[in-house]
Amino acid sequence: MIDFHTHVLPGIDDGSKGTDMSKQMLEESARQGITKLVATPHFYAHRESFDHFLEKREHAIQKVLGIKDRIENIPQLYVGAEVYFFPGMGNAERLPELCIRGTNLLLLEMPFAQWDKTVAQEVHKIIEKQKLQVILAHVERFPGFQKDDKTWKEITQLPLIFQINTESFSGFRSRHFCLKFMKEHEQMLLGSDTHNMTSRPQNLKEGRETVAKKLGEEYLAKLDQRGEKLLETATTL
Ligand SMILES: [Fe+2]
Repeated sequence: MIDFHTHVLPGIDDGSKGTDMSKQMLEESARQGITKLVATPHFYAHRESFDHFLEKREHAIQKVLGIKDRIENIPQLYVGAEVYFFPGMGNAERLPELCIRGTNLLLLEMPFAQWDKTVAQEVHKIIEKQKLQVILAHVERFPGFQKDDKTWKEITQLPLIFQINTESFSGFRSRHFCLKFMKEHEQMLLGSDTHNMTSRPQNLKEGRETVAKKLGEEYLAKLDQRGEKLLETATTL
């Protein structure tokens, strides 16, 4: 049971506010049966430098390592980033530093706006020039912005991995979209995108139950196998 998208690192973004909250979030993740969890703090290139972000992230990692032994059945921890789209990212040499450590997997957060040709070109470059595997974060949050769905169609046909937030299975409309999309695309992953213990809690278990019920246990087992394979070379914290 792998959570590919979380904001459990303390004091780095709009996720966990401090070490205590991180501890609670990790305890809850363990309680739900999560065995592997990727910490993916937000990175916004227009707001901060790579160096500043990486330094801040290292600091937050050290805090979590300090409490790790006090959490029963703590999931194996991995670290990456949720990288918000920025113009020129296809040529950004340091992009690999934001991948899940030990892999070439980049969790990409697309613009919350109408996607156009220039957006598609950057995604192309990340895949073809930089040879990174793109995990498109919470894909279900973007169709609403695509009045013109030409670029949407182009991008969703690229060899990407798509991640869905498990909270999206609770709303009727978003659940419908997610289940349909999951049937149409093979490369799917789940993440909780948990930010805290209240408004955006850990909910992977509940979301997985919906997937098992609607798409079958076999679908879920395959999704898990793919996730395991992707993390094969990843380094744990
Ligand atoms: Fe996120």
